[in-house]
Amino acid sequence: MNEVIEMMKTRRSIRKFKPDALPDEIIEQIAEAGTYAATGKNLQSPTIIAVTNKQLRDRISEMNRKIGGWQEGFDPFYGAPAMLIVLADKNVPTAVYDGSLVMGNLMLAAHSLGVGSIWIHRAKEEFESEEGKAILAELGITGDQVGIGHCALGYIDGEEPKAASRKENWVYYAK
Ligand SMILES: Cc1cc2nc3c(=O)[nH]c(=O)nc-3n(C[C@H](O)[C@H](O)[C@H](O)COP(=O)(O)O)c2cc1C
Repeated sequence: MNEVIEMMKTRRSIRKFKPDALPDEIIEQIAEAGTYAATGKNLQSPTIIAVTNKQLRDRISEMNRKIGGWQEGFDPFYGAPAMLIVLADKNVPTAVYDGSLVMGNLMLAAHSLGVGSIWIHRAKEEFESEEGKAILAELGITGDQVGIGHCALGYIDGEEPKAASRKENWVYYAK
């Protein structure tokens, strides 16, 4: 099978990560793959924040946990040591589509490099909050940003899950 299609079919969401850090060059390759996603009118509306700093990673995890309403101690990032946060310029009409496609690229690039990933949601709520805005300001990220998602990254702890069966009628062919 074509290698790209094979990667698309075998990528799975990972929910158990080893704590081991990923090499910088691996994170850079994954992030760069994100920057090559198609964007409406080529406006390149998204921005990626590569978080490997444990303090910031834990702070974001805690914000996410509270938004999700989980009990104290739960890590919505499943122990992943890194995350790529995708934001997009709110003023661009295709911002959410652009950012979602970046997320897809990130997950596929990670898989192709033997790195586990998962989309962790609630970035929108996070970066609408004062704390989220403060994080962006600390990082020098300006403009009206909408949070799209977090791509949690790390080496997989355990077995890679199998794909769920595909629903009926996914595709209609109008020939
Ligand atoms: C928009 C979106 C948001 C998601 N948010 C979460 C999340 O917050 N936590 C989580 O464990 N999985 C999350 N997932 C992962 C999905 O649950 C997962 O993609 C789905 O179960 C299919 O599994 P697969 O990715 O292995 O094919 C999200 C996926 C998408 C596309």
